[in-house]
Amino acid sequence: MTADIADLLRGARILPVLTVPETASALPLADALAEAGVSCAEVTLRTPQALDVLEAMAAHGGLTVGAGTVITPRQAERAVAAGAAFVVCPGLDTEVIATCHELGVPVLPGIATATELMRALSVGINTVKLFPAEQIGGTALLRALAAPFPQVRFVPTGGIGADNADDYFAEPSVLAVGGSWLTPAQALARGDYQCIRDLASQAVQRSTP
Ligand code: 3PG
Repeated sequence: MTADIADLLRGARILPVLTVPETASALPLADALAEAGVSCAEVTLRTPQALDVLEAMAAHGGLTVGAGTVITPRQAERAVAAGAAFVVCPGLDTEVIATCHELGVPVLPGIATATELMRALSVGINTVKLFPAEQIGGTALLRALAAPFPQVRFVPTGGIGADNADDYFAEPSVLAVGGSWLTPAQALARGDYQCIRDLASQAVQRSTP
């Protein structure tokens, strides 16, 4: 039985999107995020070491770790083999969704239009990533999509940061907010986990009413 992605994200409220070039960063990054109170994170498959990073962060045990930027069924299989507890896609691909359902792993596909949302509903998905949220219309678009689809919960991601996250947290249709702003590439490159811990703590505090 496939667990509901909503169950995973409802309590988390924040979904950090992690693009991690070095496997050595995995454990200190997991420590920093867990210490800040983050409970869920997504490792994007955008670096050669992504599956190793995912495996190490999943084994850390302090966070529920999923795979992001999954665009093929094969990537979903490899991510789950590496320990991914959920799969996030930038768009809607019914083959990837079917593979995740077969694997019994929750999947959060991306949508940007009402048509894509209807397609998601037709394959049994009612929690979606709204991507790229800010660029396609922000909270105004989110509200316009939420009105005809009251059964849908959104995880807006893309262009969200400390300056506008509150606007999304305030939306009743928003389950969690995703983004890379907690883990700036420069902070990761210089091993500044204190910076990441501080950004993550601030986001966690703001995400809780
Ligand atoms: C993603 O993969 O979800 C996005 O790249 C995150 O978008 P952001 O970097 O604008 O937060």
